Amino acid sequence: MSPVSRKKPSRRKVHVELRVNGEAQEVAFPPHKTLLEVLREELGLTGTKHGCELGECGTCTVLIDGEPILSCLALALECEGREVTTVEGLAGPDGPHPLQTAFADLNAAQCGYCTPGFLCAAKALLDRRKKPTRGEIREALSGNLCRCTGYLKIFEAVERASAILRGEEVGPIDGNGRP
Ligand code: FES
Ligand code: FES
Repeated sequence: MSPVSRKKPSRRKVHVELRVNGEAQEVAFPPHKTLLEVLREELGLTGTKHGCELGECGTCTVLIDGEPILSCLALALECEGREVTTVEGLAGPDGPHPLQTAFADLNAAQCGYCTPGFLCAAKALLDRRKKPTRGEIREALSGNLCRCTGYLKIFEAVERASAILRGEEVGPIDGNGRP
């Protein structure tokens, strides 16, 4: 029997300039790395979570050129020259994004593991729809799974953030996240 030949894994790295959260980042990584791996392991942006890594849970959702994508299924190499936005890039100079505030106010995040993915998917929706219906919110977030909240608080938080972004008055919230 001939000996089994074992190929050593390639150590080759590609050097790529990625634009992440508005900044150009020079990064070197093996060409097979996913965007999720490069964000977390090379750039230290651990807000984006890994879950199933099979495209089924949505917790790794980030925005590419404003569109939500599953970073566990995207090759980082293919993101060169495109604008990547992660949960770390949602806050602006004036503080958290209204989605982040609404999620916190309404207790729409419990363990919080799914939250970065929901926030990114919801941001993409609110960027293109000023006043989405409950059905449109449900549809836009249908690829994101949450084991804790039962989803209702998340939908309400997106509606509240949408109202804030339209400049509408929103009512106070009690200590239990109830309007
Ligand atoms: S980790 Fe990407 S979809 Fe689950
Ligand atoms: S808040 Fe725990 S999985 Fe969604």
